[in-house]
Amino acid sequence: MNKAVRKAIIAGNWKMNQTQAQTKALIEEMKPLVKDADCGVVLCVPYTDLAAAIEATKGSNIKIGAENCHWANSGAFTGEISAQMLTEMGVEYVIIGHSERRQYFGETDVTVNQRVRAALDAGLTVILCVGETLEQREQGITSELVAMQTKIALGGVSAQEMEKVIIAYEPVWAIGTGKTATAEQANEVNHTIRETIGALYGESVAEKTVVQYGGSMNAGNAEELLAQPDVDGGLIGGASLKAKDFSVIVAAASK
Ligand code: 13P
Repeated sequence: MNKAVRKAIIAGNWKMNQTQAQTKALIEEMKPLVKDADCGVVLCVPYTDLAAAIEATKGSNIKIGAENCHWANSGAFTGEISAQMLTEMGVEYVIIGHSERRQYFGETDVTVNQRVRAALDAGLTVILCVGETLEQREQGITSELVAMQTKIALGGVSAQEMEKVIIAYEPVWAIGTGKTATAEQANEVNHTIRETIGALYGESVAEKTVVQYGGSMNAGNAEELLAQPDVDGGLIGGASLKAKDFSVIVAAASK
């Protein structure tokens, strides 16, 4: 990454894991391990763990995020959570458009855009996920697809608001599979994303935007991935549930 203009952000995505008691214990274990980080440290946790996570991270350098939010402020949307509900309780980040939401819960580029808008309006920092399936990679459409996902998701987002947008490139075929994109593959797509931001908002916004990589990033491969010029951090699934492994990734991003 280019440390002169961007600060790396390592974010955990706990997905549907951890009870409140487990949340408290894991964060207590992590806090001393990441306290000297020279990068942003974020944990995105299930809704039911948010209060416990916020309480446990008070006074530390760990910020808390949710894993999704709805696009409306309130209303007849049984089972959903609004962005305002999150900010009111002290949540600062939110993942939007994760491929698991797209794959299992009918999320589309259009609803991703609506959720991004709502999250920014409520003052949250968005971690916007984009990425191709294996089939799409084999069809040779990765660049076009990721550029399109990025453009649609950012519809109606101003250059100034981009300060609160992080983009996470997560190739679907690398998530939870142990199959990591090579450092070159990750850098190539992250670069395409930065070019897309440049086309939308200009060079200086593109240079300042944090573009993460996610997909089987772990304690063993983080350093090589994070050494790439366009990889500004990571969105970490499995390894974010292990304090030691997560802290090794944070240390690699702090170098
Ligand atoms: P894994 O790190 O478990 O592959 O998950 C990546 C991910 O989906 C993070 O959002």
